[in-house]
Amino acid sequence: MTLQNESGSLESHLNLPKIKFTQLFINGQFLDAVSGKTFVTIDPRNGEVIAKIAEGDKDDVDLAVKAARHAFDNGPWPRLPASERGRIMLKLADLIDQNVEELASLDALDAGKLYRIGLVAEIPAAAENLRYYAGAADKIHGSTLRMAGQLHGYTLLEPIGVVGHIIPWNFPSQMFTMKVAPALAAGCTMVVKPAEQTPLSALFLAHLAKLAGIPDGVLNVVTGYGYSAGAAISSHMDIDKVSFTGSTEVGRLVMQAAAASNLKPVTLELGGKSPFIIFDDVDVDKVVDLAVRAILYNKGEICVAGSRVFVQEGIYDKFLVTLVEKVKSWVVGDPFDPNVHQGPQVDKNQYERVLSYIEIGKKEGATLLAGGKPAASKGYYIEPTIFTDVTDEMTIAKEEIFGPVMSVMKFKTVEEAIKRGNASKYGLAAGVMTNDLNIANTVSRSIRAGIVWINCYLAFSNSLPYGGYKMSGFGRDMGMESLHSYLQLKSVAVPIHNSPWL
Ligand code: NAI
Ligand code: MG
Repeated sequence: MTLQNESGSLESHLNLPKIKFTQLFINGQFLDAVSGKTFVTIDPRNGEVIAKIAEGDKDDVDLAVKAARHAFDNGPWPRLPASERGRIMLKLADLIDQNVEELASLDALDAGKLYRIGLVAEIPAAAENLRYYAGAADKIHGSTLRMAGQLHGYTLLEPIGVVGHIIPWNFPSQMFTMKVAPALAAGCTMVVKPAEQTPLSALFLAHLAKLAGIPDGVLNVVTGYGYSAGAAISSHMDIDKVSFTGSTEVGRLVMQAAAASNLKPVTLELGGKSPFIIFDDVDVDKVVDLAVRAILYNKGEICVAGSRVFVQEGIYDKFLVTLVEKVKSWVVGDPFDPNVHQGPQVDKNQYERVLSYIEIGKKEGATLLAGGKPAASKGYYIEPTIFTDVTDEMTIAKEEIFGPVMSVMKFKTVEEAIKRGNASKYGLAAGVMTNDLNIANTVSRSIRAGIVWINCYLAFSNSLPYGGYKMSGFGRDMGMESLHSYLQLKSVAVPIHNSPWL
């Protein structure tokens, strides 16, 4: 790991990475954009330029799709024994583990994510995700079907073809493997467009994929902006499926473009406004710890953030006192510093957007209990912020803020909690905290959300499908459901004995 300076400051202790890859990765080569253009990726700790990155647009997407199409139609990847695809994916997983420091530091630098968490949790999880799907690669099979008459049928599961993955900036490495791994296992080829805020780790992962032995053209990475490179993917006539994670607004555009071009299927994992519902019978100290993590993990930049916290009236006052105490010890600062809990927001846009929601919350009459301001004079740091007296109609209770802003609401009955928990256009996740099994079961079955956590939160696993109800999108990442979204189902019918038509 290269240190950027040797002064006695904190910087000298940081694991700042050297930036090795800044070009598009197409057909196994690092290339400049056809236009020769570049854009800059910014360090959210200080607003300074980290590196100039090749700015891919439609022409580059066309090249990448051509390479992926060739690799799909003529190359070895879809034709390899599935166990061999799995073996290569396991090798990529090992390479990720061997480069955990570099990947964690690239994401810390590019996205303001905690280096410490990247090292022990998020980058290892990216490797584990590859292992999960590597193990599934040779277990993809259809079924044999009883048919009327003297026929039998069977289904084949075939790779869907060339896939476009449009990914966001909040979990750059994990989101990359979450999308790429099931598609690789299925035998697809692909074009990945990382978010313009966080191109660095995707390019490094492309380099590792090549080292692992993924054939040229199978995995291409086009860095660039959403309105150009992203839109070129969703409207491409030769891409067979698009998987998108990001805003609801752009999800709608992606679906429109898919419909208007070649009717490719889309998977959309969009925003959330998840309720975290806490009943009277819990240990307030412990539950406050979890409520804080549920909203502040990754500085609130996570689609399942528990941003609407409903607290039953019997513990409401104690909950607030404990919460304020807890938040006081939450350290905001440099994401490379091991003592820090929360780094900067990803970029100036998100920083300003979060601060503007805080202003709206105040204007609409919510009570600001803690935080509410920038947390540093430089960089995109925001104080952990708590609002109380939030009504369901307020903007901060309805819209996804995607920052360290919690809204606390008081409720009386189970029915009220369910009704208000569901009063959202979103339906991504929910949490319910209670020792009462009847309440836990009733709430978890009544909440319209893709994932419900009972007495836990942010509990993820490769086997657990992940995605939304309502305007949080459709389709699932992770689990076997995700693998199946990269497969096409073919039905074959055949006479059991001699065909009467021969
Ligand atoms: P975004 O939806 O614009 O960006 C996500 C990805 O979509 C990026 O790769 C971007 O380049 C691409 N994109 C943008 N416009 C596109 C287009 N017209 N066609 C195809 N691709 C396009 O999200 P943004 O602006 O970075 O963040 C805005 C809000 O979206 C956040 O505040 C948050 O509420 C939500 N969001 C949700 C995420 C999630 O994990 N569900 C992740 C990122 C953002
Ligand atoms: Mg950046």
